[in-house]
Amino acid sequence: MKVNGIPTRTIWSVDHGQAIGIIDQTKLPFEFKKETLRDWRQVREAIATMKVRGAPLIGIAAAWAMVLAIRDNAQDDLIHEVRSELIATRPTAVNLQWAVDHLVKKVMPLPAKDRLPVAYREAEEMTQANVLANRAIGTHGAKIIAELYAKKREPVNILTHCNAGWLATVDYGTALSAVYIAFEQGIPLHVWVDETRPREQGLLTAWELAGVGIPHTVIADNAGGHLMQHREVDAVIVGADRITAIGDVANKVGTYLKALAAKDMDVPFYVAAPSSTIDWTIQDGKHGIEIENRSGDELRFIRGLDKKGHLADIRLMDAQTNVENPAFDVTPARLVTGIITERGVCAPEFLTRLFPEGARKHAR
Ligand code: MRU
Repeated sequence: MKVNGIPTRTIWSVDHGQAIGIIDQTKLPFEFKKETLRDWRQVREAIATMKVRGAPLIGIAAAWAMVLAIRDNAQDDLIHEVRSELIATRPTAVNLQWAVDHLVKKVMPLPAKDRLPVAYREAEEMTQANVLANRAIGTHGAKIIAELYAKKREPVNILTHCNAGWLATVDYGTALSAVYIAFEQGIPLHVWVDETRPREQGLLTAWELAGVGIPHTVIADNAGGHLMQHREVDAVIVGADRITAIGDVANKVGTYLKALAAKDMDVPFYVAAPSSTIDWTIQDGKHGIEIENRSGDELRFIRGLDKKGHLADIRLMDAQTNVENPAFDVTPARLVTGIITERGVCAPEFLTRLFPEGARKHAR
């Protein structure tokens, strides 16, 4: 995608894999700052501190971290150590583990001296594949939005939570890819953007939508239920960090409450994600998915511009206040209308029909 002629790429290889370029997302929406990471440890740090974030993007970033690590030392021990360290940074999004394991599986059978070019090629391929998958997700999702418009003949109101846009992926996004493609096709729409405390990923969504001129309104995280009761939402579309084989969905904390309100008000609730987000080894998401617990400081402080226009963390409560900060929650499959993947849209219980190879692997 392009915004004002500038490609919407979140990650790129520098000097043929000698380093990678990223956008420091902790500075958005106030400052657009690119950064070059030259070492796998810098990439690990960028993932842990959420300079790069979003399930598909952290997977690709981790794959490039493996390339940088193998460049420095392609021995088995080092590869296993880096793999574990990367996977530990963010435990909920399965894309990270998927990408690292995919790359490790390709290089391990080779002698150490032959590993780097293969690792590089695999990382390149995964990067490109993510763009294609997201574009396909957008095309399938846009059909849903077009159908809603055909019934209503007025702008379609979509509610989204967190940021599942191009910033969360290599390009296009997942949930927002559907919005972008529907908008490209001329379907009138408007997006309700959940603020998404405590990391305010909704502001990234608003920033993305503003960039292409899509009408949107930021709302407090608790406003969605009220809007649904008053028929102001035609569909909820969110991304995912991990989907189980039966369609339970882990996504940014607060998603579950939106799904409950949507069920109560008969509002369709869609989840958009590439197949790399499906964890075929798990059925029951509530018990099987590890939920990342992040620092309480994310609640104790809020980031914004101070009076002088400098980025600053403003304290909201004193250091003694007890806080709990689970970053994700699990929405059970029974609340999900459909999962939008690169292969098409299906009810959660039919995921295995859409991806029989995934299901087969799981059965083994
Ligand atoms: O903690 P983040 O910002 O990495 O989490 C991202 C999300 O949970 C998004 O909602 C998203 O749906 C997954 S990425 C497309």
